[in-house]
Amino acid sequence: MTDCILEMRGISKEFPGVKALSDVNFDVRRGTIHALVGENGAGKSTLINVVSGVFPHGSYRGKYILNGEEMRFLHIRDVARKGVACIHQELNLAPDLSVAENIFLNEKPTRHGLVDFDAMHDQSRQVLERIGLNTNPLAGGISPEERVGRLGIGRKQMVEIAKALTRDVSLLLLDEPTAALTGAEVDVLLGILDGLRRQGMSMIYISHRLDEVMRIADDITVLRDGKSVETRAREDMDKETMIQLMVGRELTNLFPRVPHRRGELALELRNYSVRNPDAPDQHLIRNVNLKAYRGEILGVSGLMGSGRTELFTAVFGAFREKGEGGVFINGAKADIREPRDALDRGLVIISEDRKKYGLNLVMSVKQNTSMSALKKVSSRFIINDNKEVKYAKDYVRDIRIVTPGIETLVRNLSGGNQQKVVIAKALFCDPRIIILDEPTRGIDVGAKYEIYKIMNELVDRGVAIIMISSEMEEILGMSDRVVTMSNGRITGEFDISEASQEILMRASVIGR
Ligand SMILES: Nc1ncnc2c1ncn2[C@@H]1O[C@H](COP(=O)(O)OP(=O)(O)OP(=O)(O)O)[C@@H](O)[C@H]1O
Ligand SMILES: [Mg+2]
Repeated sequence: MTDCILEMRGISKEFPGVKALSDVNFDVRRGTIHALVGENGAGKSTLINVVSGVFPHGSYRGKYILNGEEMRFLHIRDVARKGVACIHQELNLAPDLSVAENIFLNEKPTRHGLVDFDAMHDQSRQVLERIGLNTNPLAGGISPEERVGRLGIGRKQMVEIAKALTRDVSLLLLDEPTAALTGAEVDVLLGILDGLRRQGMSMIYISHRLDEVMRIADDITVLRDGKSVETRAREDMDKETMIQLMVGRELTNLFPRVPHRRGELALELRNYSVRNPDAPDQHLIRNVNLKAYRGEILGVSGLMGSGRTELFTAVFGAFREKGEGGVFINGAKADIREPRDALDRGLVIISEDRKKYGLNLVMSVKQNTSMSALKKVSSRFIINDNKEVKYAKDYVRDIRIVTPGIETLVRNLSGGNQQKVVIAKALFCDPRIIILDEPTRGIDVGAKYEIYKIMNELVDRGVAIIMISSEMEEILGMSDRVVTMSNGRITGEFDISEASQEILMRASVIGR
């Protein structure tokens, strides 16, 4: 037996107009975690897709060697039989099925030929607990009976991980598994991966969170423009070097903080509450009082499940339950019943769940960017193609969307570049108040920097920005003021000069 479970030799893969991988060499040593890092569009997911069989033998060039044997996989199923499991970047769950049904989607436990629901629920509870999750819904946990569509994106990710671990796996591929998780959940997950490694499992781990990579990886490979530029043992790597290898230049200051000048009050919530749609006698959000000003970035910090997303989705008019209490925009009471009402008042939300609210994957980059504000590019209901083209091209350039062209379908962009299209789309309708929910999730360090710069420019032009983020560094690096949420309430408000990681963490766990 070789000491490498996987050896990829000279892998090349092309899409129309794009060389996604060129001559990539990549080995995974048995029982280790091999991290794969690189900018958006560098080819990470493509490489994972070759390994997991999404791209069959013949659709790429090069050699795929598993356990010392050359493989010519034609079907994902055959790859799975060899003990390779993949958790893809885009979640793959059936929203209408329960957590347990999703975990056992392919092989449900049966009894006398019928699905044995009790066994399925028990076994689901076991895998969820094995990966360190609380399964008591009364204590904020995930119940195996819960419908997956009801779960937030962080919890969906956990279910996805549980699903991969129900089979016998020797090589686990994880494409940005922690992108939606908060600090404590990341710790749990990394603990689980470390445990699996001790049991001899090998893993490929993709992440844009470089601190995490430095904590968990044994080896690190940097991809740039489809090429493997360097592989090093973790001991011989540091974050700065990694960034430099990724972006091909030095990037010292990750947060372009500039002084902001607070203007008038833009959005105010007074005693704002939202009922729990599943238990209308309870409140998900309770008595929130909050002010957001023009020319300011207000950070919203809190743990997964603290109600941040629900609060602002309700304010935007897109939550299943309408909020109670006062919403004031520019001093006037605003009755927002649906997203249209919010958009009419210049309020937009850029969501963490890009598939749900953000993008139409089968439309082009151009169509997606202009979708929310067709008025701007049309006169008398006729779309002016020249204008639409110009706007789309401007945005592609300004926020550096890596795409062969503006006619490319969004489905064919890398994950991070899809997220950039979401942002372009929101900016297109000239918003005055922007709620960003995890704005840089899955976005590489270089592009993050570009997005922060755009935020600064918007604030400079008098826009009010509310930024929900689980990344403490981002909150501390970009906000002017921070509120913390826990259990559906605001538990603290801090000027950035008085905020620190410890202070925010403490305020985020009040009442839990
Ligand atoms: N199905 C496809 N059709 C056409 N082009 C594709 C397809 N899948 C990926 N690409 C292109 O291949 C390149 C590599 O994409 P890939 O998804 O591997 O990047 P990535 O490193 O995973 O980026 P991210 O960090 O944004 O997820 C990109 O330019 C992307 O647009
Ligand atoms: Mg990817």
